[in-house]
Amino acid sequence: MTHDLVITGAKVVTASGTTMCDIGITEGKIATLGTGLEGAEIIDAAGLIALPGGIDSHVHISQPSGPGIEMADDFSSGTRAAACGGNTTILPFCLPEEGMTLREAVADYRVKAEGNCLTDVSFHLIVKETDPVTLGQDLPALIADGYTSFKVFMTYEGLALSDRQILEVMSVAKAQGAMVMVHAENEDAIDFLRDQAERSGETGPYHHATTRPVPVEREATHRAISLAEIAGVPLTIVHVSNGEAMEEIQRARQRGLTVFAETCPQYITLTADDLDRDGFEGAKYVCSPPPRTSDEWGNIWRGIEQGTFDLFSSDHCPFRFVDTAGKDAPGARNSFRNIPNGIPGVETRLPILFSEGVVKGRLSLERFAALTATNHARLYGLYPRKGAIMVGADADIALWDPGLTKPIRQSDLHHGTDYTPWEGFEVTGWPVRTILRGVTTMLDGAPVADPIGHHLSRDAPDVLR
Ligand code: URP
Ligand code: ZN
Ligand code: ZN
Repeated sequence: MTHDLVITGAKVVTASGTTMCDIGITEGKIATLGTGLEGAEIIDAAGLIALPGGIDSHVHISQPSGPGIEMADDFSSGTRAAACGGNTTILPFCLPEEGMTLREAVADYRVKAEGNCLTDVSFHLIVKETDPVTLGQDLPALIADGYTSFKVFMTYEGLALSDRQILEVMSVAKAQGAMVMVHAENEDAIDFLRDQAERSGETGPYHHATTRPVPVEREATHRAISLAEIAGVPLTIVHVSNGEAMEEIQRARQRGLTVFAETCPQYITLTADDLDRDGFEGAKYVCSPPPRTSDEWGNIWRGIEQGTFDLFSSDHCPFRFVDTAGKDAPGARNSFRNIPNGIPGVETRLPILFSEGVVKGRLSLERFAALTATNHARLYGLYPRKGAIMVGADADIALWDPGLTKPIRQSDLHHGTDYTPWEGFEVTGWPVRTILRGVTTMLDGAPVADPIGHHLSRDAPDVLR
């Protein structure tokens, strides 16, 4: 049998094992794994590693961010950056504009994404209203339509839900078969600490971190888990930043609860001191939860190595730095509370984990595949179509050069923002080719295809099937 495309010579990695074989691709799917395969086109990948295309299940793109504030990425730039970072699928969040229903917001996102994506995409829903139409009609209809995960917030004015509201949302997830993702930080405690800091004149970017200390996240993590236990649903705690919150998850699992956990590059490479950089530079690092101490890096690594963390995502949430519609928003230099929250990272997530994890001997290639692709597909209803190099799956593959060493440079990146928090960070191991359904979308760090990305309708999470 002749394939459309054959990749030869690579070490082929999945979450369950590594082998030397050819990958035969026909009509965008992996048709054969074997040796001596024939193809109309051959990619010689000797010396490279073939990994499942990255799935970044925590990304913010074109998200409404308040009056006068604009996110730096639309679907074109966000997915271009994702593809150049070795990704083939991303899952951005869909947040309704003021006055819009969730269903209208999804329709709006579909229009914004259509024809503009260099990766496949699907949306998580953000639930900020718990009125009867949202809970009784919109959510069930959207879940049935393949939007099988949603995020609730315990912080941020205008987004935070009460415990009662979270329980209401969880009960819809239970009835309809969806995954609840929780942003766990205690809004009342943050509000109290923020007012106190401002009264003391502690208004610089660094105080974003001091007003969101570890107990704020630990307490909310415990409470979110307890609410899920009461509602009888599995849940995912997203962007876990520290060991104490992580231990809440470990304890819950010991009690037999089904809790999944996600962490991000910022929690193994940045610290709160980055928010204390000279002048207004610290604003570049303002995100929630904030980066902690370098001691916490060790705790998070322990969780990654021991399997507490299922997901390694970017939480890409890009704002331009030199821009009054971004980090330099009106009032941002007077108080950290006016600095838009979030940092870019969709293009740097995979190289950072490869370099810090695989190259430094903390992670096997198989675990890297699980943390960056397979588990995302399983948890969010995309497996086995996505997340693995196996016969029948979409031919979504990243070819990695494990020996390529170069620093991260803003000038090499493709996102819409004007900085990277990792400027100058030395990385060994880079994706050199990204392949989406058999089509090369990135070659040697540059985007090379038309926007061929599809919207993906998702099944129920593995754990609910
Ligand atoms: O600071 C962050 N992480 N902004 C993005 C929104 C969120 O909470 O994930
Ligand atoms: Zn969040
Ligand atoms: Zn986020």
